[in-house]
Amino acid sequence: MEFLLDTANIDDIKKYQEIIPLSGVTTNPSIIKKEGKADFFDRLAQIKKLIGDKRSLHVQVVATTTEGIVADAHAVLAKLGKDVYIKIPVNQAGLAAIKILKKENVRITATSIYTELQGFLAIAAGADYLAPYYNRMENNNIDANKVISDLNQVINHEQRNTKILAASFHTVSQITSAIANGAQAVTVAPSFIAEGLESHLITDAISDFTSDWESIFGKTTISTL
Ligand code: G3P
Repeated sequence: MEFLLDTANIDDIKKYQEIIPLSGVTTNPSIIKKEGKADFFDRLAQIKKLIGDKRSLHVQVVATTTEGIVADAHAVLAKLGKDVYIKIPVNQAGLAAIKILKKENVRITATSIYTELQGFLAIAAGADYLAPYYNRMENNNIDANKVISDLNQVINHEQRNTKILAASFHTVSQITSAIANGAQAVTVAPSFIAEGLESHLITDAISDFTSDWESIFGKTTISTL
């Protein structure tokens, strides 16, 4: 199971890579926009250095023609390194670019996936990761759990190495449903880690333990007894 952060915010990555078992960072043009006018390559190089070689960085192309997408991918790889995953939206131009780039052994994350057809084609084209958009599917009356589980079934049946990297989450339960339905990886905004780990249930339980302990031992911890 892999947990990635869907952000280009340096402070959040610094903070949460100490907290969660972080497998990587994903970005897209909308996430980059949230950071204001940061230098694109500079920011991504900073992120890559911060997360190190053992975690993956996924960077999305912005060109919309096959030639443009391939050129964007080459530029990203030249500036940031050959181990970067190139995120490509799965439409006709994107799928054609995925085929070209896989012949060059480029690592690909096929993104903007809403349907089984997009996913199946990306699997057949050799994509390393598929990024189905959970919340956006739900908003459009598409059963996100079914799409993820169908994709997973085909991956298993065909013994493919493609992994499902579910994305676009607006609630914590969407994240857990994606994993339960077969996503091998999820990419989440940092706020959901805080939300999922600091609910009142958890903080109340910890505070009860603290007050029970302190009622007997005062303001100590085990290490300061
Ligand atoms: O990784 C894709 C994701 O960032 C899209 O999320 O919230 O714009 O649907 P959202």
